Amino acid sequence: MTTTAVTDQTERALLARIPTGLYIDGRWTEAADGGRFEVVDPSTETVLATVADARPDDGDRALAAAHAAQPSWGRTPPRVRAEILRQAFELVTIRAEDFALTMTLEMGKPLAEAHAEVSYGAEFLRWFGEEATRISGRYSTAPDGANRLVVTRRPVGPCLLITPWNFPLAMATRKIAPAIAAGCTMVLKPAALTPLSALLLAEVLEDAGLPPGVLSVIPTTDPGSVSGPLLSDARLRKLSFTGSTPVGRRLIAASADQVLRVSMELGGNAPFIVFEDADLDAAVEGALAAKLRNGGEACVAANRFLVHRSLADEFGQALAARMSSVTVGRGTDPATRLGPLINAAAVARVGRLVDGAVAAGARLALGGRALDGPGHFFPPTVLTDVPAGADILDEEIFGPVASIVPFDTEDEAVRLANATPFGLVCYVYTRDLDRGLRMGERLETGMLGLNTGVVSNPAAPFGGVKQSGLGREGGREGIEEYLETCYIGVADPFAAFG
Ligand code: SIN
Repeated sequence: MTTTAVTDQTERALLARIPTGLYIDGRWTEAADGGRFEVVDPSTETVLATVADARPDDGDRALAAAHAAQPSWGRTPPRVRAEILRQAFELVTIRAEDFALTMTLEMGKPLAEAHAEVSYGAEFLRWFGEEATRISGRYSTAPDGANRLVVTRRPVGPCLLITPWNFPLAMATRKIAPAIAAGCTMVLKPAALTPLSALLLAEVLEDAGLPPGVLSVIPTTDPGSVSGPLLSDARLRKLSFTGSTPVGRRLIAASADQVLRVSMELGGNAPFIVFEDADLDAAVEGALAAKLRNGGEACVAANRFLVHRSLADEFGQALAARMSSVTVGRGTDPATRLGPLINAAAVARVGRLVDGAVAAGARLALGGRALDGPGHFFPPTVLTDVPAGADILDEEIFGPVASIVPFDTEDEAVRLANATPFGLVCYVYTRDLDRGLRMGERLETGMLGLNTGVVSNPAAPFGGVKQSGLGREGGREGIEEYLETCYIGVADPFAAFG
């Protein structure tokens, strides 16, 4: 891992190595109209690279390649698919410095966090490589004895994968790896804000032996006009999307025409509940992780800190003290613990939420004002006594702002936690195991962190309930999203046997 500041020369050398074309059918090409767009460093607001800007014709070419490759790829032995994924895991790991610096440059996260994402993202390749060889069906006798029931699994078919800017590598591998393992072909549309990591990943997957057409990568600044025709094209069979709930809702509607299989990892509004019997130091450490991982730009980021009234002041002071010591800066500086937000609009949004909370009566214990540029920096911020009705309790903050709300009883904590259309993750701190497990049943959530501020794990089913999404990514469940079930009824083989 890099421990010294990255030099301009290192950055330039890396940027010169990253492919910037579209990757379609195993070839690097320009966009249909030759257009390119700029990728900007959110720390400096300087241009890092220009990338080919896919048009609808490019989407069509990519889907045609996926459709043509599907039959042979779907029949490729699982062991071969597994070995490609394993090799990709090795290559991403060997090129960890490149991937980490790429993410730091295009997304802004500190290098140490970028390295953590490389490990996280690579692990999806290894995990699903292992899962590829464990796809299985079953054989049974019908209850009336007349037939045999053979249940088989097969790949869903060509997929459109749409990934966000906040985890440019891991969100791509979390979709690509199970698709490869299941035998699906795919078109990846990475976020236009952070396309470089996905393009580097395409190069690595090609080096790992992925055949042409199985994966195409088409960054675009016009997602609607590129994805729209693909969703209504009968050659496409599945959509997997990670992003906001409003966009997810529109994509689900657009998928209805073709009755596509959909997987949706959407927004969250995670409560972080600290009960009166919690280990306070552990809760503050967990809060830091749940709030500041990825600068708060994560759908699993703690959005509302619900703290028992007896601890609320102490918790708020301790959290503000820990957050005040966080160094803000460019991610390439090893001292940096908090990088910039992704763009100026994100800074404006977070500022509006903080101002709104203060206007509604919250007290500002730390931070609260965007830092001067260049770069889109917002400092660690703590708000206490945030009143019900403040927008900051209802909207996903996606920034380094902790809002603390006191509560008095377990029932009240549950009511506040569940008072949201989202249900991705909750965090609970308590020493009472019965209460912890009870919360697992009372909270409307897809995931629960019990005395931990980090739940993300490639071996676990990541996903939400309510308007936080459909389906699961990672774990044994992750590959299911890319498999169909086919049942074959077979006549009783003893019928003519006597
Ligand atoms: C996300 O924020 O979209 C994913 C976060 C994670 O995988 O931990």
